[in-house]
Amino acid sequence: MDITEIWIDRKDFRKTKIVNGQSAPLTDGDVLVRIDKFALTSNNVGYALSGDFIGYWGYYPTGEDGWGKLTVWGMAEVVDSHSPEIKVGERLYGFFPMSSHVALKPGNISEAGFTDVAAHRKDLPDLYNKYQRTAGGPTYLLALEDERCLLFPLFMTAFVLADYLNDNKYFDAQQILIGSVSSKTGFALAHFLANDTAFKGKVIGLTSASNAGFVERLGSCDQVVVYGEEKTSIANVPSVFVDMSGDGPLKKLLHEYLTDNMHKSVSVGGTHWDAERVTDELPGSQPEFFFTPAHIAKRDADWGAGVLFERANQAGADLGEIVKNDIEVEVIKGAEAAQQIWLDMLDNKVTANRGIMVSI
Ligand SMILES: NC(=O)c1ccc[n+]([C@@H]2O[C@H](COP(=O)([O-])OP(=O)(O)OC[C@H]3O[C@@H](n4cnc5c(N)ncnc54)[C@H](OP(=O)(O)O)[C@@H]3O)[C@@H](O)[C@H]2O)c1
Repeated sequence: MDITEIWIDRKDFRKTKIVNGQSAPLTDGDVLVRIDKFALTSNNVGYALSGDFIGYWGYYPTGEDGWGKLTVWGMAEVVDSHSPEIKVGERLYGFFPMSSHVALKPGNISEAGFTDVAAHRKDLPDLYNKYQRTAGGPTYLLALEDERCLLFPLFMTAFVLADYLNDNKYFDAQQILIGSVSSKTGFALAHFLANDTAFKGKVIGLTSASNAGFVERLGSCDQVVVYGEEKTSIANVPSVFVDMSGDGPLKKLLHEYLTDNMHKSVSVGGTHWDAERVTDELPGSQPEFFFTPAHIAKRDADWGAGVLFERANQAGADLGEIVKNDIEVEVIKGAEAAQQIWLDMLDNKVTANRGIMVSI
């Protein structure tokens, strides 16, 4: 089978190459899937940024020094199977490379899904080794393939973040500031907080001038502040900062402005991926990286395994319905076009209202 892949220079993300080849023969139990489409958002830039630290480059190694296959959330169809349980024609949702096809090694197979048990993946975070068999999942998800790839993983994080803030009584803040609020993770967090009746404070979204209109239209923020106007627009009262931008100068400015009123500073992402990072000690509560699995584990202990996940799924599906007319889904086709949209994303040319799905 002819296979087309996009490889990324692990040190210079703007440098990519198209690699054409043949699929290796399947061994017993393996399946070959055709990756029909996958989502591309800043979250994938995040996978590249933390590729070595968290291990994202390890899921689909290239075997060539310095090059990696970027991981993405996508939908695929089984086109060849040496597994007695997984049939040709089955549809899967999961974590794939930016490729036309890939071979998987299913293990722990159930109706709902399986785990890729390839030896090189066994020490990597297990969440990403799991593939869902769409026929074994809820029927309402069958019609929501794009949303599942493009929105749900991000809405899940936002829901867990909102619940973490609720669980900590919002750190006694009167306002929650969200950095890069026009991101899918950012506006979903604003939405979940706006709909949390226990939170009596303000939700303040920080964004660039070009994305402010999009955030205003979504209507979840009490106030939208454009970068550069923080000190003149934001009240100096007890605050939490949840940051999707990773922008060091912005973080520093907010800490220095709010000082002891910065009750909690939670670092979630790095949409401003090439901005300077800040490592100095800052006034107020020191920034902490948010580790989503830790809060999920806490709620699993509080409420029972899977309860938070189920609530997040339902809330994510509801939000997907609410924003479906605000996000314009575009399907980008072909390897060259995929390389170009990746560059556009790195160069901040993809406005917040665009939902990019790619098909190699
Ligand atoms: N820790 C976790 O568990 C976790 C989970 C999910 C997501 N995340 C992180 O959350 C962040 C948001 O992810 P997402 O997929 O929701 O983002 P997204 O929807 O793709 O975000 C788009 C927004 O990011 C900003 N942006 C995008 N590209 C940029 C560039 N090249 N330069 C400057 N700004 C740029 C713009 O927002 P503004 O104009 O508003 O700044 C843009 O509207 C990512 O950094 C991701 O890694 C972390």
